[in-house]
Amino acid sequence: MTRLSRRGFLGLVGAAGAGVALAGCGLGSTPGQTGEQLASALPLPDPFRVPLPVPPVTRPTGTDPSGADLYRVTQRVADLEILPGTRTPVLGYDGIFPGPTFETRRGRPVVVLHRNELPVPTVVHLHGGHTPAESDGWPLDLVLPVGSTADPMTHHGMLGDLAAGEREYRYPMDQRAATLWYHDHRMDFTGPATYRGLAGFHLVRDDVEDALPLPRGERELPLMICDRAFAADGSFAYPGLDQGMRSVPGVEDDWMEGVLGDVVLVNGAPWPVHEVDAARYRLRLLNSSNARRYRLVLQVPGASDLPLVQIGSDGGLLAAPVTHQALDLAAGERFDVVVDFTALPVGTEVTMVNPLGTGRTTDIMRFRVVRTAKDDSRVPERLADVEPLVPPPGASRRTFRFTRGAVGDHRGWAINGTSFDPERSLADVPLGWTEVWRFVSDVHHPVHVHLDAFQVLRRGSFGPGPYDGGWKDTVDIRPGEIVDVAVRFEHYAGKFVFHCHNLEHEDMAMMATIRTV
Ligand code: C2O
Ligand code: CU
Ligand code: CU
Repeated sequence: MTRLSRRGFLGLVGAAGAGVALAGCGLGSTPGQTGEQLASALPLPDPFRVPLPVPPVTRPTGTDPSGADLYRVTQRVADLEILPGTRTPVLGYDGIFPGPTFETRRGRPVVVLHRNELPVPTVVHLHGGHTPAESDGWPLDLVLPVGSTADPMTHHGMLGDLAAGEREYRYPMDQRAATLWYHDHRMDFTGPATYRGLAGFHLVRDDVEDALPLPRGERELPLMICDRAFAADGSFAYPGLDQGMRSVPGVEDDWMEGVLGDVVLVNGAPWPVHEVDAARYRLRLLNSSNARRYRLVLQVPGASDLPLVQIGSDGGLLAAPVTHQALDLAAGERFDVVVDFTALPVGTEVTMVNPLGTGRTTDIMRFRVVRTAKDDSRVPERLADVEPLVPPPGASRRTFRFTRGAVGDHRGWAINGTSFDPERSLADVPLGWTEVWRFVSDVHHPVHVHLDAFQVLRRGSFGPGPYDGGWKDTVDIRPGEIVDVAVRFEHYAGKFVFHCHNLEHEDMAMMATIRTV
């Protein structure tokens, strides 16, 4: 099969005026999902045997000349034991998966020096970060492997700001406390790079949150949920067209809807188990999967399901808690919840299940109550101030259609009929203005906007859905849905992106450039 270079197909798409919509063919093989499952080629372990790992918290190594806390991360290949008795090579931040967790404070700037010892170029994006364009991880601002030089043919001759071996990312951290995450964002290869391990947590803390009596310490757990498939040799199986992740973007045709694995990992462990006190726990849930959506339910044998009390969303604390019996998470979304194990007898096993899965992916992980304990935590009625984003009369309105669309001679994904073009902005947005953006979808598209969080105004003809509360930076758009959000960008003028966070869709061009002016 021949494939046009992206520069070539940009010309074609421009000339044709629009991509071709192919909605309706081959969809719906997995309910509640847009994606195709890949089967592992080795025996899978029993569930609830492997203890839940908690990624280590990284500490600053010093202070940079501007006074910011300086952190160092080395991106390298490592062999990890993910399935018991099996070695899996990963691309890891500091050689671990998930990468080290950052814990930073509002108002205290940090600099992260990333060194690339991997065989491929990388780009680091802090998802949810309120970050100047130079440090946002523009998809062409590559960190080249240590010792390599730029290959102008990589990325179709399009050049960004190339860094040789190392790059400093500067994060002002002028933002609310929230669960952020960082992951690779290289143009055309975000899917395989993230899948092979380049993802980690970044928690921002502040005084508002510290003043609340929420569970903390051992009772605050970041949970990174993702699905993977394994090849017979133990490596992560990914149906990428270019296994070397060098020049050909995308996946084999069968997986263009999205790659679903048959193993659920939480913090990098398959279907883990975690021993808990009979107490309240704060779970910072992240769906870091390439394409899979989850519906989380906490089952208790012989009793009703444990509610998930949501206290926060992508952009930090809600104004007031919201109680859910089930929680839907699309790729890229975070939910901060408190779960109350206090009334459960020692020995109770609480299983987090996923009714949107099939076969083994209907299980996520298990909590085992192992001891009674004292617990002073609670969930207050009022959590934090959430300024409502109210579009003024006459606010600009823009519509973005997320649909299938041709990418040159190949099937792909498009926004308003166009493939990602780093040179052409789909929206020039004045800083400080509130606009209404309408997202329209054919299949599931979790839409993510960089730079600032937004608020959901409407889902179809209804108000915001049960999972839309607070500040969001990723919103789950379901098949045939129309969702209106209020956006407002602040402080940093420059080029940013928004895109579908189904990473196969993103790599197959469902991304757009925006400019804040
Ligand atoms: Cu989590 Cu633009 O990405
Ligand atoms: Cu992002
Ligand atoms: Cu999509």
